[in-house]
Amino acid sequence: MSAFICEPGGSVSGSIRVPGDKSISHRSVILSSIAEGESHISGFLQGEDSLNTMTAFQQMGVDINRDSDRLTIKGVGLHGLQAPNSALDMGNSGTAMRLLLGLLSGQTFDATLVGDESLSSRPMNRVIKPLQSMGAVIDSETDGRAPLVVRGGHSLQAIHYDMPVASAQVKSCLLLAGLYASGETVVTEPAPTRDHSERMLRGFGCEVGQSGNRISLHGQQKLSACDIEVPADISSAAFFLVAASIAENSELTLTHIGINPTRTGVIDILRLMGADISLANERDIGGEPVADITVRSSELKGIDIPPELVPLAIDEFPVLFVAAACAEGRTVLTGAEELRVKESDRIQVMADGLQILGINARATADGMIIDGGKMASGQVESHGDHRIAMAFTVASLRSSGRIQINDTENVNTSFPGFQALAAGVGIKVSAS
Ligand code: S3P
Repeated sequence: MSAFICEPGGSVSGSIRVPGDKSISHRSVILSSIAEGESHISGFLQGEDSLNTMTAFQQMGVDINRDSDRLTIKGVGLHGLQAPNSALDMGNSGTAMRLLLGLLSGQTFDATLVGDESLSSRPMNRVIKPLQSMGAVIDSETDGRAPLVVRGGHSLQAIHYDMPVASAQVKSCLLLAGLYASGETVVTEPAPTRDHSERMLRGFGCEVGQSGNRISLHGQQKLSACDIEVPADISSAAFFLVAASIAENSELTLTHIGINPTRTGVIDILRLMGADISLANERDIGGEPVADITVRSSELKGIDIPPELVPLAIDEFPVLFVAAACAEGRTVLTGAEELRVKESDRIQVMADGLQILGINARATADGMIIDGGKMASGQVESHGDHRIAMAFTVASLRSSGRIQINDTENVNTSFPGFQALAAGVGIKVSAS
């Protein structure tokens, strides 16, 4: 089992580009595969999660050629996918499993979706139930857990679905199923969530309606191939936004970062805590806003995190908890129970790790209360969660002694090359 060993202290400087956006990478493969014509993707995330999605479509007969972060995909059209001859392995990725479940519900063939231990314990009923009400037939383990078998050949009817949780995965799953349904699929969300699916569907020529929190599309629309440039992932940049904020004498520029407003909660929260973050060179690339972001050291202070920012920063809380541990005063997070069903229970796992490092962090049902303080040395468990491993790596910039982080292999699911990039800007991390 691999681990990160982090020596304490240091400052962070330079200019880096983190890997491509994971959410956009998944969607780029899915939509290009069912489009008509040849699509070209650049900046594709070469992480295990998005590569698993790519492999799944190859298993379903799509001709995909990869040259490092560039993909050429010969789309087979809405009805051109073929039955895979073995199970589709989604690894650690909830996004891949939930989005593919929607797409597979509309096919003529059966398909099996499997995942690793973490993914096999995550809730899938949030997508299985609405898909069943569209007419999908899906077999699962107890409580809708994977492995899942999607039975082909059942025609889908559009539904109107009021989502009980703010989830871009549920929304995107139903929109993908909606492409195969008769009628107009309508999804309402309780709070805005990332809208990459809607933007990219439009880029492929599909009409997607949006009126307030109501998103809709008519089934059987044809998608036409298009070229996609994937911006760098703000969720990966977040580790460095916090790193340069908490480390003394730091100034770091992160280039080409996607700043879609449904993803920038981390910037808003850090700014409320007093972070010095500036955006430059703002531009639009293929329907997604992008900027270069510069961050400098600052004295952070504890805040009550506004609940409306929670879905807009949902993946960034592990490292935001580290920022809170380094801030002066108390930070309180509420309304974030979703964190308990991510790659790990991110509330409990982060609270446990911060306590080991001597921080007064108290897990609550839907969030955490953290009093900023002095971070000590210690050995923490990532529980195979990539974002936990990277968050504690950043914490070492302010610890008084060495931090060892166990079980770090899954960093490769979202951020291949993290350790080298982090070491290159000044974090004293090595792999063992
Ligand atoms: C994602 C949506 C979010 C996020 C995940 C990626 C997506 O999950 O946590 O990492 O690409 O749609 P939920 O929709 O379950 O909140």
